[in-house]
Amino acid sequence: MNSLFRLSVVGIVLIFAMASSNLSAQEDEGRYEQTDIEYGATVYAEHCVTCHGDNGDLLPQINLRNGRFPNSPSDRDLGNTIRNGLPGTAMVPTEYTDSEITGLVAYVRNISNVPLGSVTLGDSVRGQALYEGKGECGSCHRVFGQGPRSAPELSNIGAMRSAAQIERSLLGTEGSLIPINRPVRAVMQDGTVINGRRLNEDTFTVQLIDDQERLVSLEKSGLIEYTILTTSSMPVYEQILTDEERADLLAYLLTLKGLN
Ligand code: HEC
Ligand code: HEC
Repeated sequence: MNSLFRLSVVGIVLIFAMASSNLSAQEDEGRYEQTDIEYGATVYAEHCVTCHGDNGDLLPQINLRNGRFPNSPSDRDLGNTIRNGLPGTAMVPTEYTDSEITGLVAYVRNISNVPLGSVTLGDSVRGQALYEGKGECGSCHRVFGQGPRSAPELSNIGAMRSAAQIERSLLGTEGSLIPINRPVRAVMQDGTVINGRRLNEDTFTVQLIDDQERLVSLEKSGLIEYTILTTSSMPVYEQILTDEERADLLAYLLTLKGLN
């Protein structure tokens, strides 16, 4: 009775946690992280320079450097303006991923502090080689059909997570382990232990990929133990890779937008 109650409390907490893990990359209004600013600068260089110029002051009617955007008071508004354009002007709707919007907003809000030419992301080609080689990422992760399913698939990571969030994952920084990615341990009535990663969960059941890459669906009421762990099995790459190598890897991961 008591344990059933506890399980359903866990379930409710999880539903909340999972819902919040689906929030867009742009969560922290007014807080800009260096990595997002840098990523934003590269997206800006590719998509915005033609009209707004290197310094953001090319257009007579709007100077991005003074930070006064009549139609975009909040960061959320600014993200929407960048995505949806401004009707009746040359600024037309364009599809950007959440990660790109987070970067663009961070960069535009800081455009006077960050000279455009001064920022470079890493080299994504070198990053891909590190992913496959020294980083051994492919021994746990899957990208475009290659690799195991024991860790989260990364084919869409560059669209789903902000640059700063991906960097936190590589550094193993606090807050990098998002709730749905927490590993779980379940013990069945007969004592069988299942370690795995959740794909889906509701109050009564959980679907997971176990460490043998099997898809398992469990009724929580039939379990002796159900524990959500708070430590990741992913190596901390702060020491394993140099700063430059991590920058290259980040550049590569940001190219993974699920389009292939
Ligand atoms: C094809 C030209 C063009 C491109 C490309 C373009 N813009 Fe604009 N943008 C404009 C024009 C024109 C305006 C001014 C509209 C007006 O108010 O008259 C504007 C306005 C803005 C504003 C002011 C919004 C407000 O609240 O008034 C921001 C911020 C902005 N652009 C950011 C960007 C960013 C970031 C990019 C790249 C992702 C971008 N723009 C790409 C032409 C462009
Ligand atoms: C030993 C297995 C293992 C290796 C090796 C590994 N990872 Fe992970 N990774 C995981 C697990 C498990 C998670 C989910 C838990 C977490 O977020 O820490 C994860 C999470 C991540 C995330 C966050 C996913 C999300 O949904 O936000 C990223 C990004 C990532 N890994 C990238 C990498 C890269 C790049 C490498 C190689 C440098 C790598 N991983 C190597 C196991 C691994």
